[in-house]
Amino acid sequence: MLTAFVCVLIGYLCGSASTAIIVCRALNLPDPRSTGSRNPGATNVLRIGGKKAALLTLIGDFAKGVLPVLLAKALDAPPAAVALTGCAAFLGHLYPVFFGFIGGKGVATAFGVILGLSWQVALAALATWLAMAFIFRISSLAALTAAVLAPLYLWWFALPGAYVAAVLAMVPLLVWRHRSNIRKLLDGTEGRIGEKKKSDA
Ligand code: G3P
Repeated sequence: MLTAFVCVLIGYLCGSASTAIIVCRALNLPDPRSTGSRNPGATNVLRIGGKKAALLTLIGDFAKGVLPVLLAKALDAPPAAVALTGCAAFLGHLYPVFFGFIGGKGVATAFGVILGLSWQVALAALATWLAMAFIFRISSLAALTAAVLAPLYLWWFALPGAYVAAVLAMVPLLVWRHRSNIRKLLDGTEGRIGEKKKSDA
């Protein structure tokens, strides 16, 4: 029980380290929460600061998802505790205690969590993201498609029910966080990967 609690706490605290904000501060770039799409995530950092800053953000957001889950597994936490640890990291990214509870949309962190849960599912989700990004060049569309299909992949690979429940809990939140992107996708005004300028509500 104590192990589970510690893992969940570590997950939330790791998730709360908003990589986009930290990277932008370190590189003297504008705050991603007030520039571009106003999302503290790798896609927006790509607009603001270019590939290097975006890559650092992507790696950080991914790491804070995968590492707590791997830690929970390494400590032999039960599947429910591993799944909760992943959820906590994801929630930390969305509602970071260190940054006024104003966080990002959770794509890279969710991907890290999923990789920690199952590399097969992560591979399937990554392939989905890459295929969609290659075809449409729209980051949000690629992320939403991969997220919506992720529970199907978990079911396909017959993963523990707690893992499926964790992903089923994360997906609606991730989709909700993309509501402005969804509006733009429906309007046909969503920006494409690599585009410099973009305003958002
Ligand atoms: O991961 C977020 C991405 O799907 C969309 O980001 O900045 O275009 O709203 P952004």
